[in-house]
Amino acid sequence: MYSEKVMDHFQHPRNMGEIENASGVGTVGNAKCGDIMRMYLDIDDNGVIQDCRFKTFGCGAAVATSSMATELVKGKTVQEALQVTNKAVMEALDGLPPVKVHCSLLAEEAIHAALWDYAEKHGITIEGLKKPKSDIHEDEEEEEEY
Ligand code: FES
Repeated sequence: MYSEKVMDHFQHPRNMGEIENASGVGTVGNAKCGDIMRMYLDIDDNGVIQDCRFKTFGCGAAVATSSMATELVKGKTVQEALQVTNKAVMEALDGLPPVKVHCSLLAEEAIHAALWDYAEKHGITIEGLKKPKSDIHEDEEEEEEY
């Protein structure tokens, strides 16, 4: 049911941990499953993401998507990092079971929340980046069927 890549990133998560004095930190959660994800970004003066780390208190798919998301945004500019959507993360993981799609959405939202935090701290606007709705919210389940 899970791809090899998902299993690999779940069992050997990349970039787990924190960044001290991070340029941006974002925390998001899913009220239904209670899982929480926090992303730390280290962004240099040219707006390039030098490092990205995560802490996830959640399911295996959430751990795997956080891990893959950190790999995908590293080395990218903040603008490019906006393209790291949950779809991009899922594709990089060779897919996720439908009931686990919301886990990948957490990864996208955590990146956006961290970028928002960075933008606010530096008084800049990142084109195309919307304010995270809230740190913990529950309106992301629409695409799922029960
Ligand atoms: Fe909630 Fe995976 S079950 S993030």
